[in-house]
Amino acid sequence: MQNLLVRNWQIEDFKEIEAILKQLRWGTVTANHRLFSDPYAGKVAVMDGKIVGFVLYWIIEEEVEIIALVVDENYRRRSIGTTLMSSVIKELASYQTSFNVFLEVSEKNTPAIRLYEKLGFKKISVRKKYYKTGDDALVFMLKIKPNGGKRCTETKT
Ligand SMILES: CC(C)(COP(=O)(O)OP(=O)(O)OC[C@H]1O[C@@H](n2cnc3c(N)ncnc32)[C@H](O)[C@@H]1OP(=O)(O)O)[C@@H](O)C(=O)NCCC(=O)NCCS
Repeated sequence: MQNLLVRNWQIEDFKEIEAILKQLRWGTVTANHRLFSDPYAGKVAVMDGKIVGFVLYWIIEEEVEIIALVVDENYRRRSIGTTLMSSVIKELASYQTSFNVFLEVSEKNTPAIRLYEKLGFKKISVRKKYYKTGDDALVFMLKIKPNGGKRCTETKT
């Protein structure tokens, strides 16, 4: 997509990220400054200077947990979520180690499930009644192997 840049997030981005989170009523996340330092990592998708989505994850040794992937509701179905996740995968593949990437998603969240499956994630288990609503969480995993050392910290599409 034209004019879409993915870059590592910075603490200055937090107001724009919170504005996207407000749409979901997930409450505040980035007000917690720990999220801007190890082991947490985040990337934002920027279009024409505006943050239109983000991915938050943590890395501990060879294990990565995707905590949140969110695209502004006005910018969905334009491959922004895919571009954000692909950017994380490319960066992890650029290290000289393999990673197991895990995430949990509600059984009802069809958009996210389809996106993760398209990127190669496999369902490995179910956490019954994991959410307050009584819905199950599906646990997905993707194994990432080193790609031979190609570095990738910014993606332009
Ligand atoms: C899930 C989410 C991040 C997807 O972002 P997005 O930028 O709209 O996704 P993409 O455009 O990259 O879509 C990739 C694929 O996912 C699937 N998909 C995305 N939205 C969909 C929808 N509303 N219905 C069905 N499939 C959908 C499709 O297979 C799509 O490929 P296609 O457009 O070629 O058919 C976005 O819907 C979102 O922010 N949801 C709220 C937060 C959330 O639930 N996050 C996931 C759990 S942390």
